[in-house]
Amino acid sequence: MNRRDFLMSSLGMVGAGAALAPAALAKPKAKRAGQGDGAFPPGFYWGAATAAYQVEGAYREDGKGESIWDRFVLAPGKIKNGDTGNVACDSYHRYMDDIALLKAMNLKSYRFSIAWTRIQPDGTGPVNQKGLDYYNRLTDALLAAGIRPMPTLYHWDLPQNLEDRGGWPARETADRYAEYAGIMGKALGDRIETWSLFNESKTFTALGYNQGVFAPGRKDPYAFIRSTHTVNLAHGLGYKALKAANPKLKVGSVYDVTPMIPASDRPEDVAAADIWDKWQNLWFAQTVIEGRYPEGVFPADRQPELLNWKDGDADRMHADLDFVGFNYYSGTLCAYGKEASGVPLIDVDAKWPYAPPALETAKTDFGWNVYPQGFHDILVRMHKVTGNRPIEITENGCAYNMGPTADGQIHDPQRIAFYRGHFAAMLQAIKDGVPVRGYHAWSLMDNFEWASGYSQRFGLTWVDFANGTRTIKDSGKWYAGVAAANTI
Ligand code: FCB
Repeated sequence: MNRRDFLMSSLGMVGAGAALAPAALAKPKAKRAGQGDGAFPPGFYWGAATAAYQVEGAYREDGKGESIWDRFVLAPGKIKNGDTGNVACDSYHRYMDDIALLKAMNLKSYRFSIAWTRIQPDGTGPVNQKGLDYYNRLTDALLAAGIRPMPTLYHWDLPQNLEDRGGWPARETADRYAEYAGIMGKALGDRIETWSLFNESKTFTALGYNQGVFAPGRKDPYAFIRSTHTVNLAHGLGYKALKAANPKLKVGSVYDVTPMIPASDRPEDVAAADIWDKWQNLWFAQTVIEGRYPEGVFPADRQPELLNWKDGDADRMHADLDFVGFNYYSGTLCAYGKEASGVPLIDVDAKWPYAPPALETAKTDFGWNVYPQGFHDILVRMHKVTGNRPIEITENGCAYNMGPTADGQIHDPQRIAFYRGHFAAMLQAIKDGVPVRGYHAWSLMDNFEWASGYSQRFGLTWVDFANGTRTIKDSGKWYAGVAAANTI
């Protein structure tokens, strides 16, 4: 089972990765941008993304504290080939090489994440100046290169000390997070305007606290549900802390979204898709923006107890986000099935197990389905949820693992085809009125792919992990042309 499927088995539901819409339900294809019609809006941000634990390395340098990923990778059998992020791409030392890659690809925005444990080694208490200095250097160098720094405050690397004190299921973690957000807003807010609060709240809560396949490796459905509420509280509190540090900051957050396609028009399948949509697409994004949870995911009378809800939480978690970031990788086919292999992890709704129907799309080397139409469709769908807030694509990409050939180059036509299809779908969404203002490819370079270690390569740049050498792939050169022309 790859991790897209793990996501789908949250809460006892088993679902599929992406698939083409089955014939019965195929929606009319969105009109493709015609020739000469491939221009993106002026000033569109073309960029690339990474995350601290996946690229930085230097896991014990300059006073950095231990994170849950530093700990989790040591557990036997958790990470493919026993890989760790201890060194990764060594970006902590080679960030100037990374900036050279961004420049070579004509990119104007760099989405990176900040390791909380470099700033507050224990997740609380005084600032570790040496750790902060790293992000000062990175920020200044990006600005000098004419590239917008776009940090994410939390890309899954909780300080281990806070996990020892209860982790995300404990409400106190939201207060610690807000304190950290305020520190960062004060330290870098004079130079960085655009901030993301969290990366993919659904992924790290479900895989970390329910499935146990990501850090911290817990398998406790009740803790998991509480963790989702703490993270929503942390959104509201973190947002307010950043604004208090500097009212000029533009604060958003990053959500992983996917169109939920019923496998047939049977009412059970349609209901399955609806619950999945509420769970994956709305549980965090809509909740934070509106200050209320979508109805119908848990029985209303049990929800307060399951979430550990307190009076005033609606205000606490509310954040009038200035923009919204979306990560898109594939679509999801949803079918109801009593024979589903996932045992319900929580007995709140017996009709929740779903069986994945057969899938029909091309797949990446990671086994994720290639479904560009879904990118268009989910953008149109989420635009209705997020109002007219500006949207940034904060991740989109694919793992293809080919390496250098005799000529020393990396020929990856599949990745070019993937991006070409997704750019056309994104452009169509823009033409349909979705206010997308930027795009970040995942990833700037091959890196540590969580439980898959170094086995899955998502980069526009090849990284030789034996020595850190970076080589731009054919896809990276092609992307440089798109970014320069602002046209496909
Ligand atoms: C996303 C993560 C990112 C990367 C890609 C492939 O879910 O946010 O860190 O692992 O998947």
